[in-house]
Amino acid sequence: MSQRQITFEVLRYNPEADSAPWIQTYSVPCEEEWVILDAINYIKDHLDSTLSYRWSCHMAVCGSCGMTVNGEPTLSCKAFLRDYKGSKIRVEPLTHFPVERDLVVVLDDFMEKLQSVKPYLMPKTEKPVEEGEYKQTPRQLKNYKQYTMCINCMLCYAACPQYALNPEFIGPAALALTHRYNLDSRDAGRSERQEVVAQHEGVWECSFVGACSEVCPKDVDPAGAIQQMKIASTVDWHLEHLMPWRRK
Ligand code: SF4
Ligand code: FES
Repeated sequence: MSQRQITFEVLRYNPEADSAPWIQTYSVPCEEEWVILDAINYIKDHLDSTLSYRWSCHMAVCGSCGMTVNGEPTLSCKAFLRDYKGSKIRVEPLTHFPVERDLVVVLDDFMEKLQSVKPYLMPKTEKPVEEGEYKQTPRQLKNYKQYTMCINCMLCYAACPQYALNPEFIGPAALALTHRYNLDSRDAGRSERQEVVAQHEGVWECSFVGACSEVCPKDVDPAGAIQQMKIASTVDWHLEHLMPWRRK
């Protein structure tokens, strides 16, 4: 198995002890098949147990290992070292979020926004459990399945220039999840979510740069979801103001 010695420049920051973030370097003997997360784990296990970062699944499922690698929002368990040329790699926390410690960021803002869009099924009429499942055809499932793939990794927020300018922006992942529930044939909660979606900090804050969809490790395409919601909101507005007799 071939090895490559790589210097990792890792951002360190302990708000209780450091006046500002600083960079620490580690020389890591990397195996060819490693991902970035393996190298960070090597640092933690063999070089410096004080380094803080999040991870859990090592298989692009839990969404907790997002980091900025060489300036790009990256899912560190899906980023193979063979795709990084040169002998140095810089690893920093995801941008646009406060740093809790080292590579760990505070996600309270996203959790509040996620709650505000009511990301759960709201059926038109509740039925007792004994009456069985709310059924759906494969075509109805296909309609929204792509948006269920989100793992809340926050790469899209770190990539989004609008979120950088206006932290009130609901943001790509929360809006993509809104779209997921709105498109679900078992759901009737769109009008309740619309209050958040159609406000200025909702879909209209997006200027369709598309960086969120470019960095998304699960091909959710939040930018596409937001543009579809803009069209739906525009149709709503026309129905409401120009053809009130067609309002639902
Ligand atoms: S939309 Fe993609 S980039 Fe954004 S949180 Fe979900 S999986 Fe991550
Ligand atoms: S460790 Fe779970 S997504 Fe990377």
